Amino acid sequence: MRIDIITVLPELLKSPFEGSIMKRAIEKGLVEVHFHNLRDYTTNKQKSVDDYQFGGGAGMVMMIQPIDDCITKLKSERDYDEIIYMTPDGETLNQRMANRMSSLKNIIILCGHYKGVDQRVRDQFITKEISIGDYVLSGGELGALVLSDALIRLIPGVLSNETSALTDSFQDNLLSPPIYTRPAEYKGLKVPDILLSGNFAKIDQWREEKAFEHTKNRRPDLLDL
Ligand code: ADE
Repeated sequence: MRIDIITVLPELLKSPFEGSIMKRAIEKGLVEVHFHNLRDYTTNKQKSVDDYQFGGGAGMVMMIQPIDDCITKLKSERDYDEIIYMTPDGETLNQRMANRMSSLKNIIILCGHYKGVDQRVRDQFITKEISIGDYVLSGGELGALVLSDALIRLIPGVLSNETSALTDSFQDNLLSPPIYTRPAEYKGLKVPDILLSGNFAKIDQWREEKAFEHTKNRRPDLLDL
């Protein structure tokens, strides 16, 4: 997968790709991530990327020209499966969307700032609008990172143990069951006997029951889907 991220804050985006799973995915050649600084595409002397709203109102609006130039250049170099705009009024990201999108080849993620982008950008270029939750962030960068991480870990070969993504919370619409590691007893706190029994069929059944119970308690809405 190739991810092109268009942003006014490329520096903010870099470090999450320099560690852990996302770094490994890049090193293995399974993912390419490119940052594009919108200011490099401005044609005005001040290098500004935003301007006042027509009709008045608080907050600056990101202008169409630098975004158009950046997206048009990228599109002239390759085909994109999706051009995504991170925005609180987009479709809320969930695991089902992440699963579907993890097989895409090339995507662009546009990070909004200030009040947002000129509507004509959304009308002309954007194929998908995504929110990471019902709250407002200062910009789309954190959302772009969340989306990238959620997609990258699902790409075959990225996680060393392929099954570990399949047993994540939300796969099958269930939250994960409780997990334990050594020691088997800590200050009188014991790991459930079943997990030490070596009976893997029983362990699987126990995990399924616990996952169901946990989901019923915390996120009953997931069971209605
Ligand atoms: N930009 C600002 N708030 C956002 C959100 N909740 N999701 C995605 N992008 C955003």
